[in-house]
Amino acid sequence: EEFERGLHEHFMMKEIHEQPDAVGRVIRGRLDERFHTVHLGGLNMDAREAREIKRVKILGCGSAYYAGQMGAQFIEEVARIPADAEPASEFRYRNPVVERDTLYVAVSQSGETLDTLVAVQELKRKGGRVIGLVNAVGSSIAREVDGGVYLHAGPEVSVASTKALTNMAVGFAMLGIHLGRIRDVSPADGRRLIEGLKKLPADIAAIVAQEEELAKIAGRLAKHESLFFVGRTRGYPVAREGAQKLKEISYRHAEAYQTSELKHGPLALISPDVPSVAIVPDDELLDRNIGALHEIGARSGPLYVVTHPGVEVPDGVAAKIVVPKNEPELDPILLTIPLQIIAYYAAVALGHDVDKPRNLAKSVTVE
Ligand code: AGP
Repeated sequence: EEFERGLHEHFMMKEIHEQPDAVGRVIRGRLDERFHTVHLGGLNMDAREAREIKRVKILGCGSAYYAGQMGAQFIEEVARIPADAEPASEFRYRNPVVERDTLYVAVSQSGETLDTLVAVQELKRKGGRVIGLVNAVGSSIAREVDGGVYLHAGPEVSVASTKALTNMAVGFAMLGIHLGRIRDVSPADGRRLIEGLKKLPADIAAIVAQEEELAKIAGRLAKHESLFFVGRTRGYPVAREGAQKLKEISYRHAEAYQTSELKHGPLALISPDVPSVAIVPDDELLDRNIGALHEIGARSGPLYVVTHPGVEVPDGVAAKIVVPKNEPELDPILLTIPLQIIAYYAAVALGHDVDKPRNLAKSVTVE
């Protein structure tokens, strides 16, 4: 085990560092720079069938579900197909209407999560077309689906998922470009997004290089019993994933909220004891997000802002974490990376065994 972990004390940190390579593997051989599109041979779906898709429904659990939310946002924004994500654990129990013109996507690192597997089986029983975004080759979900995209993140040992989630988000972006380019997405937009995908490994490496600084920030955050993670639209699944990572391994209470919804209730909880990690990309919602930071600051809530170069944050923020700017639709992938590192070092600061968090298993194969 020591050998496999290499220089790293825990698998989680090893896997965080592997992300530039992992992303390089998932995009390799799939980007078409001549026609500015993405080829996904395993989908088993021709262009005519793909054009008939009226909706996309993504199913997964935990972090895979949050990656699915990122994916739904990307697909709807880029391919202009209504898309949403739902926990597979809920979907399987609510007798959902299964539509012939919906593309169902099961997303899973292990390919063995029972809730997701049973959701796939239920869909197939009712005639739904299901594809998989799966990391583990030959796993149960990979064998059950009608086609799919392997994520090539390599084996993930840490219970807290990092590189698999990143590759899921990249996988959805590729699916979105593929579906978009046989519909309304222009060659110029296809090219823009493909260039963005190609930049991701270097961008991720630049964030991982900030490890030392992020460790210090994590040490400060870990002192608080309870935290908010806030983001909106593209930033909301990022906030959810950040809160999930922190909960899993640091056992701190972390709640993700849409920044826009704070004023409808949770603002009452903001105080000097309850910091907020705010996702503030340099995009069309920047001014509104900065406005929300002032609202939180006015209630003396400490602010840890994850943002892009050149963004001016209000005076007095506790920390400003800057990630490289990519294309707006791809930004969530990069905004998530510092939150993994923060969760890791918060857990280390609190003396927890990062690779063996209490009460959790790597893959949940029971009810
Ligand atoms: C991630 O950090 C979690 N340990 C967990 O939410 C996980 O993503 C979920 O159980 C789904 O697992 P899967 O991707 O193997 O299906």
